[in-house]
Amino acid sequence: MKRSNGQTGIALRQGAEIDGLREAGHTAAKVLRQTVALVRSGISTGEIDAAAAQFMADAGCRSAFLNYKGYPGQICISLNEEVVHGIGRARRIIQNGDIVKIDVGVVKNGWIGDNATSVPVGAIPPEVHQLLRATEESLHTAISLAQPGEMLRKVCGSVEALVQRFGFTVVKQFVGHGLGRKLHEKPEVPNYDSGRIKTRLEPGMVIAIEPMVNMGTSEVDVLADRWTAVTRDGKPSSHFEHTILITADGPEILTPRERLTLPMA
Ligand code: MF3
Ligand code: CO
Repeated sequence: MKRSNGQTGIALRQGAEIDGLREAGHTAAKVLRQTVALVRSGISTGEIDAAAAQFMADAGCRSAFLNYKGYPGQICISLNEEVVHGIGRARRIIQNGDIVKIDVGVVKNGWIGDNATSVPVGAIPPEVHQLLRATEESLHTAISLAQPGEMLRKVCGSVEALVQRFGFTVVKQFVGHGLGRKLHEKPEVPNYDSGRIKTRLEPGMVIAIEPMVNMGTSEVDVLADRWTAVTRDGKPSSHFEHTILITADGPEILTPRERLTLPMA
């Protein structure tokens, strides 16, 4: 049964619900890992999308994104200045020097897991590596702050504070989110302190934290395909995401995987 926080309407998960969310999260992480392993110069984003469908079928789950508000892909694959929601295409070929953002959301036994990472292909410029490292670090800083009793706005504000030190900007048009049986539940989890977030974290809350960080302007536009978000200045963008559970002992990453970049310590 779903407990719910009276003040905010945010679900507080327990028992079998948590088991279901953990299973979905671990499965989403496995599919992301398998999908990332295919990334190389010369492969098309359409091939990666099709392979992801097979990985999901093999893992006994399905895409949480396909048909969501009409989304046509199994996963999201966004290159370089594409921020999020890129759609795999047979004629879109990955090249050396690209950064590839892959976002995988699955439904398993009715529960959702959602996670994303950025992947460099071959040699990338040092400032782009720094963008990836700062973004991944901001995700883990935010996770470590996601303690029971903490104000959610502090978690959100930590993302912008960290990446600002490097001169990078956070995207404000898209946010992280609560999730459970649906991909997007309360609360919204922006990557900055909007000043409007009243939520205090409690054990049983499940949220996806997903920093989207730009090298230049924070402004993004959506392409004519009605999905792909791109930076307005054409500069690169980075994205990392985990689903986490707030427990009495602190945050638990429900989508565990190895980090891409070294922690900043
Ligand atoms: N991780 C993203 C999100 O939670 C991916 C959604 S893609 C969509 O918003 F197609 F489902 F919208
Ligand atoms: Co998400």
